[in-house]
Amino acid sequence: MTALTLSTAAAPGLRADAIVIGVAKGAKGPVVAPGAEAVDKAYDGRLAGVLETLGASGAEGEVTKLPAPSGFKAPLVLAVGLGAVPEQDAGYDAEALRKAAGVAARTLSGARKAAFALPVAEAADAGAIGEGALLGAYSFDAYKENGKDPKAKNGKAPLAEVALLGGKPRDKAYKAAVERAVAVAEELNRARDLVNTPPNDLNPESFAAIAQAAAKEHGIKVQVLDEKALVKGGYGGILGVGAGSAAGPRLVKLSYTSSKAKKHLAFVGKGITYDSGGISLKPAGHNETMKCDMSGAASVFAAVVAAARLGLEVNVTGWLALAENMPSGSATRPGDVLRMYSGKTVEVLNTDAEGRLVLADALWAASQEKPDAIVDVATLTGAMVLALGNRTFGIMGNDDAFRTALYEVAEEVGEPAWPMPLPEHLRKGMDSPTADIANMGERMGGGLVAGLFLREFVGDGITWAHLDIAGPAFNEGGPFGYTPKGGTGSGVRTLVRLAELTAAGELG
Ligand code: BES
Ligand code: MN
Ligand code: ZN
Repeated sequence: MTALTLSTAAAPGLRADAIVIGVAKGAKGPVVAPGAEAVDKAYDGRLAGVLETLGASGAEGEVTKLPAPSGFKAPLVLAVGLGAVPEQDAGYDAEALRKAAGVAARTLSGARKAAFALPVAEAADAGAIGEGALLGAYSFDAYKENGKDPKAKNGKAPLAEVALLGGKPRDKAYKAAVERAVAVAEELNRARDLVNTPPNDLNPESFAAIAQAAAKEHGIKVQVLDEKALVKGGYGGILGVGAGSAAGPRLVKLSYTSSKAKKHLAFVGKGITYDSGGISLKPAGHNETMKCDMSGAASVFAAVVAAARLGLEVNVTGWLALAENMPSGSATRPGDVLRMYSGKTVEVLNTDAEGRLVLADALWAASQEKPDAIVDVATLTGAMVLALGNRTFGIMGNDDAFRTALYEVAEEVGEPAWPMPLPEHLRKGMDSPTADIANMGERMGGGLVAGLFLREFVGDGITWAHLDIAGPAFNEGGPFGYTPKGGTGSGVRTLVRLAELTAAGELG
């Protein structure tokens, strides 16, 4: 992982491969952002003009490289776009800083050290820049042979070291902001690694082992239910989905507790390590990226570990519902009826609607502890991708105020999200002649139908929200901002912020 430090060094004397500065979009051309004063001075105050000559406008995502002025130890100045100049006194928005830092870190892959001289008005800005840099520097090359040698010409190792200039290294608030950025980004990047790991190497058993090891390291209590324990406990949903795979299912419970906690949150993650669709097999073209179907579990795992590393004063239980959805002679058939952990029976009409089956058991298990709220995270439906696109997750739930609160939390941390309804009239589409409910209903509004299914497995009176991250969990396009190609870690920052606000008594 990229190392991150707060530095009081002045830009000119700093030994680094590049100095990163910000450029904003002004009414009359590019504007040099605060933090870059020393660079501007060395350009005789003409840096904005130089940038304009080079074609820079200050637009978000833009990168302009220029030679460092004489007298600078670093050879390169990298100017990243921050978008519009903020209104007077408003300061740069955290998300603009995060994205610019992410773009810079990604552009500088292959370099060893960079100094970030972006606008820092308060501790939170240093946190945002740090987070963006660490997330943007991420790359997954565990399976690239030449990636193993950082000196390999096209190996392009991630930027190794980031020095944040303009902050106050001895100030408690700045230190805390940077520590938070490091903990959240490291765990989020680990979630990305899990998502990107191919399904022949990441199955329910190996995922559970990774969770077990991390939990031990961070003082989190961990309990793994293997197939035998799941049978004994009556977890028919998780078992039914895992029945076709040679790699048996697991339910992992991670309990982080704080002696000062007043509230208890439960996070539940869909962990299908590969979704072939099962007997209702997905056609070619729809299964190549289905290693991403454990993204919800990866995000829950990351959020619980981050909460422990930050020592948040709230109890957080993470539930990872892990199974591989495969067709075989032992697989669940369309037409089978499963008896779920809650005691309800489900007629499986489509084995590709498996996420709701594993989640149903985990939601019911989570409910038994009567937490103050449950949030599940899942790559649940293609319908949500059709509705909201590739970058926005949908939020559903049984409590409008909590759904709104989560939407605001997501917005605050820079995760695009949108509240979605659970229309009652869609429930009857899941009526089954044979069982209590079917795992499929009307095709139209499929994301909401899935949400209605999950609602039936939440204990009475428990506040619950559901994040359908099927769109943003896996980026099949090119990288943007601090988001890489592949696994994104969608949901992690929303969960961590929710835990922080709950700990602070500012929510629920
Ligand atoms: N894992 C998929 C949903 C998905 C689709 C995730 C695209 C990421 C990208 C889920 O298990 C699934 O197959 N859902 C079906 C449900 C249907 C059979 C009711 C779907 O959305 O088509
Ligand atoms: Mn499926
Ligand atoms: Zn799935």
